[in-house]
Amino acid sequence: MNCESKNSKRQTPPAIYCFMDVVAGEAERYARDHTSPLSGLLEEIECFTLSETPYPSMLTGRVEGRFLQFVVQLCGARRIVDIGAFTGYSALAMAEALSDGGQIISIERDPHFAKIAQGFFDRSPAGGKIALKTGEALEILQSLPDGETDLVFIDADKGQYGAYFRESMRILRTGGLVLADNALWYGRIFHPTDDDSRAVADFNELVNGDSRAEKLFLTIRDGIYLIRKRSK
Ligand SMILES: C[S@@+](CC[C@H](N)C(=O)[O-])C[C@H]1O[C@@H](n2cnc3c(N)ncnc32)[C@H](O)[C@@H]1O
Repeated sequence: MNCESKNSKRQTPPAIYCFMDVVAGEAERYARDHTSPLSGLLEEIECFTLSETPYPSMLTGRVEGRFLQFVVQLCGARRIVDIGAFTGYSALAMAEALSDGGQIISIERDPHFAKIAQGFFDRSPAGGKIALKTGEALEILQSLPDGETDLVFIDADKGQYGAYFRESMRILRTGGLVLADNALWYGRIFHPTDDDSRAVADFNELVNGDSRAEKLFLTIRDGIYLIRKRSK
């Protein structure tokens, strides 16, 4: 798949979105080449995002999308919260793996991206499993009940990662999972010099010090912090 040539709107990304090869580019390409492609519609979202939006690096993509699908299937999740829909990739990837009767609440603050995501959900047989909510992620999380969610995927405002984590631990059932994307934040967590980098580094320490959480730090793509809420 080559989406670069169709790119009409891509601008020079702001420095914060420039990918730094924390995980070697060669390993990234190898991982992608040895991961089953996702559905045609997800491939289309990937192509659309790379060619038509200014922030292609925000997309989770094939390897992480397939990982999310494995996690949904392995843990038998039925109630999922997706924080940061963007063009809809992570929500739709999880929806395709979700059993009938399962539901995903996907949250997006930007109405422009919410409209794009909804357009893709409407074209998918799995799209009916996704309830897209437009608004501030933290406010929407705060409106959800205690202990009823199986899985939360955190992928929105880096400055709020700590707050998302606290709310996630409240809404998760015992044994439920949090997956936090960009836990490596392009390697900037090692020597944070800006607000988002400090926030992600602080979030990683918050999780690491939380005795309610079992943790696994994965170096998939830009880092995924996998957290399981312990039984009491
Ligand atoms: C990294 S992108 C999400 C990528 C998406 N999960 C995927 O798989 O392609 C982050 C998204 O979160 C949204 N966002 C940022 N801050 C937010 C907030 N405070 N509340 C809700 N959404 C927010 C952004 O508009 C952006 O679309």
